[in-house]
Amino acid sequence: MNASVALAGIELTDPDLSTRVADGLARVESLLHRELASEFSFVTEAASHLMDAGGKRFRPLFTLVAAGVGPQPDNEDVIVAAAVTELIHLATLYHDDVMDEADLRRGAKSANARWDNSIAILTGDFLFAHASRLVAGLGPDAVRIIAETFAELVTGQTRETVGPSVGQDPIAHHLRVLDEKTAALIDTCGRYAGIFSGATEQQIGALRRYSRAIGVAFQISDDILDLTSTDSGKTPGTDLREGVPTLPVLFTLADPDADPRLTQLVSGPIADDAGIAEARELLRESTGMRRAKDVLGDYAYAARAALADLPPSSSVDALGSLLPFVVDRTH
Ligand code: IPE
Ligand code: IPE
Ligand code: MG
Ligand code: MG
Repeated sequence: MNASVALAGIELTDPDLSTRVADGLARVESLLHRELASEFSFVTEAASHLMDAGGKRFRPLFTLVAAGVGPQPDNEDVIVAAAVTELIHLATLYHDDVMDEADLRRGAKSANARWDNSIAILTGDFLFAHASRLVAGLGPDAVRIIAETFAELVTGQTRETVGPSVGQDPIAHHLRVLDEKTAALIDTCGRYAGIFSGATEQQIGALRRYSRAIGVAFQISDDILDLTSTDSGKTPGTDLREGVPTLPVLFTLADPDADPRLTQLVSGPIADDAGIAEARELLRESTGMRRAKDVLGDYAYAARAALADLPPSSSVDALGSLLPFVVDRTH
């Protein structure tokens, strides 16, 4: 097979790499399904709901590809680590949709909309518990790393909820939130990949710098897509409806020359569909959007620089292919 395969934006041009990753993903998938089986079938049903709805499986895929940096990418611990990252991610989605009052996820009803907030929260907790059980088999360092990651995710989510303190730059605050709530877990994907494939400390350091930068870029581009696209599997404009600030909005609010109508619209939550449609349209063409894309480009550039510190390989090429994808999907 010579054709290049693209999964969640990662181009796998090398047939050996693409076979290893496809095989790894299948093993991750069966581990995830085994892990979700519960003696109480309703819990399994609620936990499988979003798992089966799809999603890009970006974090396990990223972990499997990044493991190509070390000499033992086929290590079973890489598979377990990849499954752990998806379970943690999935758990955060259940909780995030409660906090954001979102009704659609992965093209399906969110758990809070399908059942209620209590079920969504408990299901998220169930997934965290199972991720912890799995990670215990990876040894004490992996447990400490995931505990620190978990703390960072919660800190980021809390920082977003609390908002900037008086006098704090809202954009610096926001970028810190993205680093914590999204990039921390992607950092752990790269770090686990390096550790369990036997990469050197120096290589793990480069993988982590790459992962942090691509993690923030990934969230910025996801927030831009919420304004520009209608096929994300989520209800477009949810951030605007809930008044959750994103980078294009924050740049608009900081811009004295911004369209006053747009500034007025995005100054708080927008209750009606017409207001959301108008704000989305104005934002798409705004200076705030252009600045947000510039910042996205800066993170992509930093990620590229980190990759340059790794020995060339088909896995590093595949990681590099993610950069234009993350940037270009916003166009
Ligand atoms: C959604 O993550 C939350 C963000 C960090 C933007 P993904 O875009 O990876 O969501 P799924 O897993 O494909 O549903
Ligand atoms: C990102 O939060 C998801 C987590 C890191 C938990 P968002 O609220 O920005 O993500 P979406 O848009 O709902 O996927
Ligand atoms: Mg959120
Ligand atoms: Mg959300």
